[in-house]
Amino acid sequence: MGQDGLRTDGIDTSRPHPARIYDYLLGGKDHFEVDRQAGEELAAAAPEVRAGLRANRAFLGRAVRHVIGTGVSQILDIGCGLPTSPDVHETARQQAPDVRVVYVDNDPIVKAQGDALLGRAGATGIVLADLRDPLAVVGHPDVHRVIDFDEPVALLLGAVLHFITDAKNPAQIVATLRDALPAGSFLVLSHATGDFADRSRAQSVYNRATATLNLRSRVEVERFFAGFDLLEPGLAQIPFWRPDGPPPAGSEAIGFYGGVARRTG
Ligand SMILES: C[S@@+](CC[C@H](N)C(=O)[O-])C[C@H]1O[C@@H](n2cnc3c(N)ncnc32)[C@H](O)[C@@H]1O
Repeated sequence: MGQDGLRTDGIDTSRPHPARIYDYLLGGKDHFEVDRQAGEELAAAAPEVRAGLRANRAFLGRAVRHVIGTGVSQILDIGCGLPTSPDVHETARQQAPDVRVVYVDNDPIVKAQGDALLGRAGATGIVLADLRDPLAVVGHPDVHRVIDFDEPVALLLGAVLHFITDAKNPAQIVATLRDALPAGSFLVLSHATGDFADRSRAQSVYNRATATLNLRSRVEVERFFAGFDLLEPGLAQIPFWRPDGPPPAGSEAIGFYGGVARRTG
């Protein structure tokens, strides 16, 4: 058992897990029957969900390319999910081959698959830890082995904070991570929202999963950027954050906000 009684030492196949639902909807292969069933229910409740997840990956790619383009050479990706292609380290290394990346997730399957796939990738590591204990994440020896907290870091919180309930104070979690980062660091964040369509049915699919889905409004998501300066265009519906082509059809219904911000102080 980990923090808060969280199960981090075994793989629970009796309940759907966010990482495996996400993998299923993105066309991956690391999921069980419960995850496929939950994924199909999600797609029925929110028909644009697959397009939304692809748009989320595309947003992360654009954001990572931007941040690495400013000269940042290390990435801490918390709630990284199962390996996918292109993964964050692949995108980053197209910009700068020596970028160091640590992936963090609380799902043991993510850790196992990450170890298998990333073992060859030099400075890239994967750590089993829980975002709800941010000091344990930034204090983890395997994080310190790769990340130098005296140099700017790109902190990625892609589609993960909506799995943290208000009771766990997600704003404080982000503030704790922020305080571990030096000036010149970046926060890349995406978050599910019900601002563009009623997502209560989609939300209820997660009620039996290992983490609930906590949709938040624009104002609530913007609060996570306290202590950072949001880059243009600010917090945006993800297909419209610095698009590098025409946004895919149906983008207006995609229920994700995304933003990139710089820590100045
Ligand atoms: C929807 S996936 C997002 C993957 C990737 N960041 C992206 O945006 O494409 C959410 C990931 O967050 C992980 N996760 C959920 N709650 C977490 C927590 N408390 N600590 C660490 N990881 C968590 C899940 O296991 C899953 O892999």
